[in-house]
Amino acid sequence: MKIEVTANVDWVGKIDWELRKFHGEEYSTHRGSSYNSYLVRDEKTALIDTVWGPFAAEFIQNLAGEIDLDNIDYVIANHAETDHSGALPELMRHIPGKPVYCTANGVKSLRGHYRQDWNFQVVKTGDRLSLGKKEFIFIEAPMLHWPDSMMEYLTGDAVLFSNDAFGQHIASEHIFNDQVGQPELYAEAIKYYANILTPFSPLVTKKINEVVGFNLPLNAICPSHGVIWRDNPLQIVQQYLRWADSYQENQITIVYDTMWDGTRKLAEGIARGIVASDPAVTVKLFNIARSDKNDVITEIFKAKAVLLGSPTINRGFLSSLALLLEMAAGLKFRNKKAAAFGCYGWSGEAVQLMNEGLIKSGFEVVSPGLKTSWEPGDEELAKAHDFGASLPSLIRTGKELS
Ligand code: FEO
Repeated sequence: MKIEVTANVDWVGKIDWELRKFHGEEYSTHRGSSYNSYLVRDEKTALIDTVWGPFAAEFIQNLAGEIDLDNIDYVIANHAETDHSGALPELMRHIPGKPVYCTANGVKSLRGHYRQDWNFQVVKTGDRLSLGKKEFIFIEAPMLHWPDSMMEYLTGDAVLFSNDAFGQHIASEHIFNDQVGQPELYAEAIKYYANILTPFSPLVTKKINEVVGFNLPLNAICPSHGVIWRDNPLQIVQQYLRWADSYQENQITIVYDTMWDGTRKLAEGIARGIVASDPAVTVKLFNIARSDKNDVITEIFKAKAVLLGSPTINRGFLSSLALLLEMAAGLKFRNKKAAAFGCYGWSGEAVQLMNEGLIKSGFEVVSPGLKTSWEPGDEELAKAHDFGASLPSLIRTGKELS
């Protein structure tokens, strides 16, 4: 089951080909995932992280096939979320008393999850743990993405064990970045960043600059999900710096829901208007009720502006848009413009309420929006086209429609 990463480091994790939802039902994982655990052998032996609880027995059985568990000297728990710590209780039943290295918040979190008092050894940034010829240097990484998160660097091999940072939800028998399709790899890496790390972007920038400032050589980055970055590992570090810096592409993302197709027709009219006015801009449309919400969040992350569309229902807007706004509020997107649109039959509050939701979620609303009554006919579709055509310049200048 092991896969050699370097002469001293073996991957001993679990590839989860079946996983389709992660964080409960919150995050879609179309390509499965992996829970990466690493065995580092020198004069002393350390195990870094474990796997998700449902695979604990399988993990321990496989691990015992690789090493006498009593010969594990140190356990390192980079992060207590159960996709990495789930097999710890089973492991510690076999080797009670062995030290578990983690941050002070890691102790709180592991105790909170498992109600166990293992032999915790608290480490801070700069602390070292000798394995013999090589040593670990620990780096606390609070809020990347939990308060307990940490990483460690293995001297000699020049490997950074980064836990969730730089991960991707991909199941692959080939575990290195140069062995998988690059579009697939980057599609999952950006989705992971957009849906998990966006709120912490300022901390991402700060932590990367801190680690780069150590001027350590780097042969590989071993995250806790997906493939290991061994081919030009700095590529994902540089990409993270770009993503953390209010990332946007020349894209407008239109997200709508519709009851009887009126708002869909407006969405499509607006899209045609945008492209007529600015052929260089990429426009993507999603019916949020029929789309994967995490994929839509990724397309919002990539966009310079988002347009929300909903008809009015019960003096409000459709619930699928409310869910999206709730997610966006938590993710704290920065430097993104927005506008709203929708058709209505009677009262027509949806556009104004979506504007308020967009502002509350941190978007800069550049227009009062477009609302049309009843089924869109030629006149309303012309208005949608004109509205779309006005948006590229409004998004550039940030000025409201007069
Ligand atoms: Fe992969 Fe935050 O757990």
